Amino acid sequence: MQGKLTHIGIISDIHSNIAALKSIWEEFERRDIDYVICLGDTIGLGARPEECVQFLRAHQKQLLACVRGNHENYLLEALPVHNHGDATKSVLPKEILDLFRWNHNQISNESVEFLRQFKKEVAVKIGRHTIFVSHYPVDASGQYRTFYFTPTIDECREIFADKPGDIFLFGHTHLREYHRGRDGKIFVNPGAAGCPIGTDSASAGILSLSETQIDYEQLDIDYDIETAIDDMLQHIETVPAIDYTVDQFYRKH
Ligand SMILES: [Fe+2]
Ligand SMILES: [Fe+2]
Repeated sequence: MQGKLTHIGIISDIHSNIAALKSIWEEFERRDIDYVICLGDTIGLGARPEECVQFLRAHQKQLLACVRGNHENYLLEALPVHNHGDATKSVLPKEILDLFRWNHNQISNESVEFLRQFKKEVAVKIGRHTIFVSHYPVDASGQYRTFYFTPTIDECREIFADKPGDIFLFGHTHLREYHRGRDGKIFVNPGAAGCPIGTDSASAGILSLSETQIDYEQLDIDYDIETAIDDMLQHIETVPAIDYTVDQFYRKH
């Protein structure tokens, strides 16, 4: 590795938005990235879950790491009762669960098996760096640790306590975060690729690493969001929660 920089694209919370995923990937290729890390919630909410998983399957040689998000857990384990599968949060209404079920029914057996190979967390070594990859860090029983919507660096240290690494990646909140401690530890959430809060563009990031250097660049990529919304409205018009989903996840608010 020495002085040469390794460029790693970071993507999270694609949420079945194939237009956003393709736009981000095109940017990664323009930027000549070496690898991609995917932080989960690839499926759920949007109109094109199978296309998104197939896209990752077709590009899996570039995937340095990929983890399951709560939406993959809903598919591979069980549908949640509460929001985020967290018993302290509100009970999910039937129409939201119908939306999740609709999403799951679009996914082929091959894509289910592809998703099943991923864990909830994984540590990856690049040169002297260890990158801890998670959708959100879990406790020993596999449950997500305390949910902080906009975690401070101290809260990041708390939820990643006892996890190995000098670079800690997470998604799940759909908000961008970047913290660098005096000890050199870095905590990054690239924001949600498919449904970022507060913006109509697709969110992702690029980590650039050498033996002596860590840089992070946040990406904010314009893409055809109106087509993505129309795609949802036409494709899943029978799902009662569609207006909620479009409002919550695809428009600036
Ligand atoms: Fe999530
Ligand atoms: Fe998510």
